[in-house]
Amino acid sequence: MNSTETKLIEMHEKSTEVYHHILMNTELGQKALDYLHDRGLTDETIKYYQIGFAPNNNVINRFLVEQKFEYQDMRKSGLFLEDDEGKLRDRFFNRIMFPIKNEFGSIIGFSGRVLNKEDSTAKYLNSPETDIFNKRDVLFNLSNAKAAIRKNDAVILFEGFMDVISAYQSGIENGIASMGTSLTNDQIKVINRHCSSVYVCYDGDAAGQNAINRALSLLGNSNLTLRVIQMPEGIDPDEYRKQFGEEKFADYMSKSIESPIAFKMRYYKLNRNLDNETDKFSYIQDVLKEVAKVDQPIERDLYINQLADQFNLNKNDLTMTMNSFIQKND
Ligand code: GTP
Ligand code: MN
Ligand code: MN
Ligand code: MN
Ligand code: MN
Repeated sequence: MNSTETKLIEMHEKSTEVYHHILMNTELGQKALDYLHDRGLTDETIKYYQIGFAPNNNVINRFLVEQKFEYQDMRKSGLFLEDDEGKLRDRFFNRIMFPIKNEFGSIIGFSGRVLNKEDSTAKYLNSPETDIFNKRDVLFNLSNAKAAIRKNDAVILFEGFMDVISAYQSGIENGIASMGTSLTNDQIKVINRHCSSVYVCYDGDAAGQNAINRALSLLGNSNLTLRVIQMPEGIDPDEYRKQFGEEKFADYMSKSIESPIAFKMRYYKLNRNLDNETDKFSYIQDVLKEVAKVDQPIERDLYINQLADQFNLNKNDLTMTMNSFIQKND
């Protein structure tokens, strides 16, 4: 690491302390703290993740100048917006601050959430790309989760970091999340270095389901073992925990694991009317293409049986069609 990078990390570590102090101990942070309590986060969780609050008074700029950080380093930190005269102002204000760490536990960026969605077009504001913050390979919570990931030989991949935090509070410590963007190949490589299985647990809304499908395709190019943890329709993991409590949430998570094919059997139905012959035919084709990718003949047989039962079709016909897709795959 070069000296600029060291400085940038130092600025992030110090800013985290300031934001966290404001949240926990000052009048300025009271509304934000109430907001987090209302969402059901405990003080232990808030401390563990060093969550903070950025007020509206340019506090980080003043603080880092006082701490004798150099202007050029401050410019490169991503913590500030610069005006035409080169004057710096805090980029983050009136936001709840979530520090983002690299794999080794150093703070390299922030994501800031507004308290009221109506206050801004962006619910979350992330740090820009800097010398130390590269969104494409950051995985939220990886440094905290390493031991649990090794122990389980698996990660749970969530859509948002509130879901990761909720899981932690519920005793599930191997959760990670990409930084709001869809999963990248760089992130998959990082995951691959730490374990051999991925459980994809995205939101139960349409966007989440589409994102699961994309993630499965991308992860399918790796040799990671894949599973889906399916949320109830319309809610995300954090909302489930808020609604039903930590214990029921953990229980739900452990009982809602399905194979990628089981997911796709549901997913491919979403915009189709299976009473319509054309839709039904294309659905069966899509599913058979997925079945053709399964390595184990017994597992393939299982899905063929399911389809045969469900649509009252001949098993041999389905197997023949499926086999034609296997040949095409090679
Ligand atoms: P909460 O509303 O706080 O529970 O957030 P969430 O995690 O449920 O958000 P959502 O499901 O809407 O989005 C998933 C993830 O996408 C978030 O965790 C963010 O990382 C990212 N995201 C959501 N909204 C925005 C946004 O306005 N800007 C950016 N940059 N990222 C966003
Ligand atoms: Mn409170
Ligand atoms: Mn979502
Ligand atoms: Mn969500
Ligand atoms: Mn949410």
